[in-house]
Amino acid sequence: MTGLVIEAATEHVEVAIVSPDGVLAHLIEEVGHGQTRRLTPLVQEAFAIAGRGPRDLGWVAADLGPGSFTGVRVGLATARAFALAAGARVVGASSLAALAHAAPARKALVIPLVGAGRRDVYAGFFRADTRGKVSLLAAPRVVAAESLVALVAEAHAMLPELTLRFVGPGAGRERERLEAAYPTSTALAFRHGGLSALDLAAAARHPGGPGAGLPAEGHEADPVYVRSAQAEERVRHAALLATPVSVRPMTAADVPAVAEAERRTFSDAWSESYFRSLLDQPGGWTRVAERQGQMAGYLIASVQEPVCDLENVAVLPAHRRCGVASALLADLYGYCRQSGAREVLLEVRASNDGAQALYRSHGFRLAGLRRGYYRAPDEDALLMACPVPARPASDAPSH
Ligand SMILES: CC(C)(COP(=O)(O)OP(=O)(O)OC[C@H]1O[C@@H](n2cnc3c(N)ncnc32)[C@H](O)[C@@H]1OP(=O)(O)O)[C@@H](O)C(=O)NCCC(=O)NCCS
Repeated sequence: MTGLVIEAATEHVEVAIVSPDGVLAHLIEEVGHGQTRRLTPLVQEAFAIAGRGPRDLGWVAADLGPGSFTGVRVGLATARAFALAAGARVVGASSLAALAHAAPARKALVIPLVGAGRRDVYAGFFRADTRGKVSLLAAPRVVAAESLVALVAEAHAMLPELTLRFVGPGAGRERERLEAAYPTSTALAFRHGGLSALDLAAAARHPGGPGAGLPAEGHEADPVYVRSAQAEERVRHAALLATPVSVRPMTAADVPAVAEAERRTFSDAWSESYFRSLLDQPGGWTRVAERQGQMAGYLIASVQEPVCDLENVAVLPAHRRCGVASALLADLYGYCRQSGAREVLLEVRASNDGAQALYRSHGFRLAGLRRGYYRAPDEDALLMACPVPARPASDAPSH
C-alpha cells in the first residue's frame, strides 16, 4: 500500500512517497517559515517522481509535533486533505517519539530534543531496553535551555543505571551545555541536522499505543503542542475569571453523577459502590467541585500522617483548563495542613500529559517509576511527590 509522509514540524520540510518495495520519492527543502507555500508543490513533485497519484494512497503520515505551530498545523491539514480526497487513513507520531523510536540506543534514557523558538527546547523522555525496544517514560516538556539539565537530572534519578542519550536537532544546538553536564551524552549524534520523514513513517505505522508514546491503532492523529498558543491562553484565563469554582464535600447524592463521570473519563474506572464506600472512611477526603451550579469535577484522597495519597482527580471535559483541578488541589492542601500531612504522593500514567502538566504546575516532581502498574491499556506509572505548601498569604487570618 502506498503512503505519503509529510514532515513539516520544523523549518526543514520533507515529503516522501513509500510503498512496500521501498522509498519511491524523497524530497527535502529548507523552507524557513514557508511551509504553507511550499508543501503542496513538494507533494505534487514527489507524486510525479514516484509515478503515483493521490488515488494510490492507503495512508498519509504527518508529524504531530511538538515543533513549529504553523508547521504542525499545515502538515496535518495537508495530510488530512490528501487522505480525505484519497479515502486514505491519516496516521501520525510526535516528533519526539519518531526520534526516540528511530535512535539506535540500547539500555539508555533517550531524550529527543526539538527547538521551541527563542532559547527553549521541547524535550521527550523515553527508555530503550537492552534490545533497543523503546517505551515512554514521561510526558514531553518545553523548557528554557538553561533549565534542561535540571529537568534531565530529575528523570535520570528514577533510572540512574541507564546511559543518557540526547538525540534530535535540539541536541545538536545544545551540545556544549549537555556535554558539560553529561559527557558523551550526545556522542550518538542522531538526527542533529533535523527530523526525518522516514523515521516519522516508521513511528506512525508502529503498532504503538500509550506505552510506546505513540497513538494507538485507529486513534485520531491529534497535534501535540506541549505549549499552548498565547491567544488561546488569553481566552481561557478570561473565562476562568468570569466563573468561580467552589469545592464542597461529596455526598451520597453526588455518587451516581461522579461514577458516571468516572466511567466517561477512565478506561479502568472505579465503580459506583466503591465511591460510596469511600464516603465515610477515616482519613478520607472526598470532594466535589462546582462551576456555574454544576458538578465540574471531583477528588479523592486519604491521609495517613505524614503522607497524603491523592488517589483520584477528574474534571468534566466542558470544565477543563478553567482552574477546577487547581481549586480541588488547593482545597486538598488545606486539609493536609489541618491533618498534619507534609507530603502529597500520587501515581499517574506515563502518557497522561495533561495530568502531569497539572501536577507540575502545582509543584509535584518525579519521584519514581512503577513498571507495568496500569492495565487497560498496560502502562507504567510515574510516582510524583510534592511537599504540602505553606498556607498562602491570602488565607491567613486578618487582624
Ligand atoms: C488532568 C485534569 C484533572 C486537569 O484538570 P483541569 O481542571 O483542566 O486543570 P486546571 O485548569 O486546574 O489546570 C491548571 C494547570 O495545569 C496545567 N494543565 C492542566 N491540564 C492540562 C493539559 N491538558 N495540557 C497541558 N497543561 C495542562 C496547565 O498548566 C494549567 O494551567 P493553565 O490552564 O493556566 O495553562 C483534567 O484534564 C482531567 O480530568 N483529565 C482526565 C482525568 C485525569 O487524567 N485525571 C488525573 C489522573 S492521575
